[in-house]
Amino acid sequence: MEKFGASFLIAGVVTFFLGFFLQGAMPVMTLSSLPTQTIEEVAQDVSPHFVQLASDYPEEFKKYFGEPNPESFAKALDMGRDWYIAEACWHCHSQFVRPVSNEDLRFGKVSTADEYQNELHLPQLFGTRRVGPDLSRLAGKYSNDWHAAHLYKPTSVVPYSVMPEYPWYFDENKRPNERGLALIAYLQWLGSWVDEDGGGAQ
Ligand code: HEC
Repeated sequence: MEKFGASFLIAGVVTFFLGFFLQGAMPVMTLSSLPTQTIEEVAQDVSPHFVQLASDYPEEFKKYFGEPNPESFAKALDMGRDWYIAEACWHCHSQFVRPVSNEDLRFGKVSTADEYQNELHLPQLFGTRRVGPDLSRLAGKYSNDWHAAHLYKPTSVVPYSVMPEYPWYFDENKRPNERGLALIAYLQWLGSWVDEDGGGAQ
């Protein structure tokens, strides 16, 4: 056994570096040359739900975001994504429709790599597990008001829900505050880039 010691050591070290190169360095080298869309570029296409948000909650929207235009949309998406991370929504929700188990029948079009080539998907929010449904095809599935009611008290719209309540996204009049509006704008953006016949399935 003694005499194999050095061989095992060398094999171990070589395997470590091979693994590091193939799974660590190579993806970075190949992917870092691909163009990544900035949040400002993504926000050029102002979503109809964001415009709708401005008329659903006119006073609050005006106060925090002004007019619904590419600048305010960029601000809302950026902030909404940050709260989604801070609140650990990703702990219970995935953002990746897998090509297995007929997931496309439940959630919509299977996810493709190019969808994630923008700053709003950095860091990637594939999620860890699915206590709640996948959210990557959410755009337009519900109205802004539904999202507001659901965030405030999930059981008010889904009686069996085990999702926590998030009252701190609302002001004293129970209307969404700045981060509440941003989070709803972000949720309504998820999957809005998918063709009508491909995404948003129930
Ligand atoms: C403890 C796990 C858990 C956490 C944390 C959580 N959710 Fe949920 N969520 C659920 C479950 C379970 C459902 C399904 C029942 C329902 O619709 O309320 C759900 C449903 C949803 C839906 C409806 C999805 C659909 O397609 O019907 C949305 C939107 C949503 N959650 C957003 C959020 C956001 C935003 C956060 C963070 C602020 C969050 N969730 C945090 C468990 C969670």
